[in-house]
Amino acid sequence: MKKWLFAIAVSVVTNASAQDAKMKIFIDGLMKKMTIDEKIGQLNLPGSGDIVTGQAQSSDIGKKIKEGKVGGLFNIKTVAKIKDVQRVAVEESRLKIPMLFGMDVIHGYETVFPIPLGLSCSWDMQAVKRSAQIAAKEASADGINWTFSPMVDVCRDPRWGRISEGNGEDPYLGAQIAKAMIQGYQGSFSSNQNIMACVKHYAMYGAAEAGRDYNTTDMSYSRMFNEYMPPYKAGVEAGAGSFMASFNDVNGVPATANKFLMTDVLRKQWGFKGFVVTDYTGINEMIDHGMGNLQTVSALALKAGIHMDMVGEGLLTTLKKSLQEGKVTQAEIDNACRLILEAKYKLGLFENPYKYCDENRAKTDVYNAANRAEARKIAADCFVLLKNNNGLLPLKKSGTVALIGPLADNSENMPGTWAVAARFSEAVTVLQGLTETVGDKVKILTARGSNLDADSLFEERAGMFGKSLRRDTRPAATMIAEAVAIAKQSDVVVVAAGESAEMSGESSSRSNIEIPQVQKDLIEALLKTGKPVVLVLFTGRPLAIKWESENVPAILNVWFGGSETGYAVSDVLFGDVNPSGKLTTTWPQNVGQVPMYYAHKSTGRPLAEGQWFQKFRSNYLDVSNEPVYPFGYGLSYTSFSYSDVKVSSTIPKGNQTVTASVVVTNTGSRTGKEVVQLYIRDVVGANTRPVKELKGFEKIELKAGESKMVTFKITTDDLKYYHADMTYGWEPGDFEIMIGSSSKDVKKAIVNWNK
Ligand code: BGC
Repeated sequence: MKKWLFAIAVSVVTNASAQDAKMKIFIDGLMKKMTIDEKIGQLNLPGSGDIVTGQAQSSDIGKKIKEGKVGGLFNIKTVAKIKDVQRVAVEESRLKIPMLFGMDVIHGYETVFPIPLGLSCSWDMQAVKRSAQIAAKEASADGINWTFSPMVDVCRDPRWGRISEGNGEDPYLGAQIAKAMIQGYQGSFSSNQNIMACVKHYAMYGAAEAGRDYNTTDMSYSRMFNEYMPPYKAGVEAGAGSFMASFNDVNGVPATANKFLMTDVLRKQWGFKGFVVTDYTGINEMIDHGMGNLQTVSALALKAGIHMDMVGEGLLTTLKKSLQEGKVTQAEIDNACRLILEAKYKLGLFENPYKYCDENRAKTDVYNAANRAEARKIAADCFVLLKNNNGLLPLKKSGTVALIGPLADNSENMPGTWAVAARFSEAVTVLQGLTETVGDKVKILTARGSNLDADSLFEERAGMFGKSLRRDTRPAATMIAEAVAIAKQSDVVVVAAGESAEMSGESSSRSNIEIPQVQKDLIEALLKTGKPVVLVLFTGRPLAIKWESENVPAILNVWFGGSETGYAVSDVLFGDVNPSGKLTTTWPQNVGQVPMYYAHKSTGRPLAEGQWFQKFRSNYLDVSNEPVYPFGYGLSYTSFSYSDVKVSSTIPKGNQTVTASVVVTNTGSRTGKEVVQLYIRDVVGANTRPVKELKGFEKIELKAGESKMVTFKITTDDLKYYHADMTYGWEPGDFEIMIGSSSKDVKKAIVNWNK
């Protein structure tokens, strides 16, 4: 293992800049004054209790801050409170060391953007970056200097509820999004509008077995480095200040004690310079992983490369004893302490501990009209139009619309999961959005139609964070009858249905990923009225919606769109915005096909294209190998055509750069945006290779009738991969260069690339 690791190690540049030298002198001086208790204290990160995101909580925080036993505090809200706590740290503790203030600012602060899975569907890196910039601007105005984002876990299993918090199934796209988010949050660190990012959850958290949260991951190193590592590595390259360890074990060792991950790969191979925090009680949880008692697991974590302990206080309460007993070294404690102090130094907190505590900014920069307008625009660009028979959408701004469904008028659910700072009761519902934007021209009738589910399982378990759906106590049949009566009086029916916000996210795995039956019954009854039905689908994961895709004429997937959801939904439904989102996950026909992803291997017995079943081929008896909707798919109100792919050379050699171009034409009647996608297949390799892999994309806007040439540059870097023996490289031979509008709809050219 060690051999290949060092063979591919990047040489870490040791030329410390003048800035770094200055920082070193300052921190050396400070650390000389610190007692062992104060050093260990810097490694402690309690939760404030203001916003609760897990089970255990710390106590006596004020006292501990005065004693120098706290390095940072997380999920505390409002600038006034943060200023007060910072004052205690810098006025009442012996060494006056300022604190970090962290928060789960995941998809916005008070102005909430779409859930990350939704945001990824914009394929618009400028929009992604802008959303992070605005989140940082708002959070920093309210005292926060550190966000626990971006979450970059690749996930190919929609049962896992936290798929909602990531960027989908693709490592290449995930890496681009990781970079854009970090640039947006951190900028140059010079301004008080930027905050430190935290790449999480390192590593392989999205590969939890059976999609059950916190479950084991176990995989080959080549798969790990080809398919799961690229977004984390991109986080290092983008200069993220911190990383968070994941809860799961990886190949038999919990990530929190995984020296291979934390030190050998993250620091030695990738050159990461920041610090690593545990996820919540990750250290304490190693007792249940079966790794020993609190003292043992705390020492294991420190030795592996963990520097800060969230909530659990394992480091705080055991490290001194471990030092005395020779189980950890002074150098290990010093190193962790130094990395935390460096982060504070880089954020400018030693210069001005109140840098992020500007009460005036808190009044002007948070949840203002400009930020909300941006959130509305970005949300609309994340929606994915899955189906639109006979141009049912966009709707006319006249006549009568029946707006029905459990999610039609519920503000708490609109921001989605992990929007801890949101103004839940002010989030714009679909009813409010429609009423305020087209209500003067369109008559809107509304009915609840159904509850979220029949037996309130989801409402009880998924409503834990207070995002209630206010269960309607009437019988299901009565509710459906009321909805049907309203539908009959309307020209078109819009059903807002699917999952509630907390049916995805942490600890919200599902073994059945269909829309709950009671909502399907409602949709079926509405279809029977003969009125055209549009499904506005709310979800935090790819759902198995085969029946809906076959029976409902139009489906607009809106994820959870954030604080401005209702306006954005109306903008798209009525055609003020032409939808341009494309899926970043594969949508299976049923949960039995999972894990399902476009970049799969061929196998030795692939099913012939277009076939459902062939004996002795790789397939199922009861379902075809096709998804309902493939990766990269999404419709528009206009249409696009693609020319054939032109390559600059069909027999490139060595390190030559090849260009591949297509001409894309808007063949419809309105302006629209298209995500042009580049995929490559390595036809013959030393190892089995995926049937295609995303290697580039560009989102373009075209007026009706307009054409544009889109050109991608391809180099041998795009052909390289980690082999089973962990060598990294490429083999000469044929490569299919594919460009198109989804992973299923591509045009191809073949190049024969030689060394
Ligand atoms: C989650 C993290 C989060 C942390 C702090 C944990 O339960 O896994 O993503 O950052 O809580 O709230």
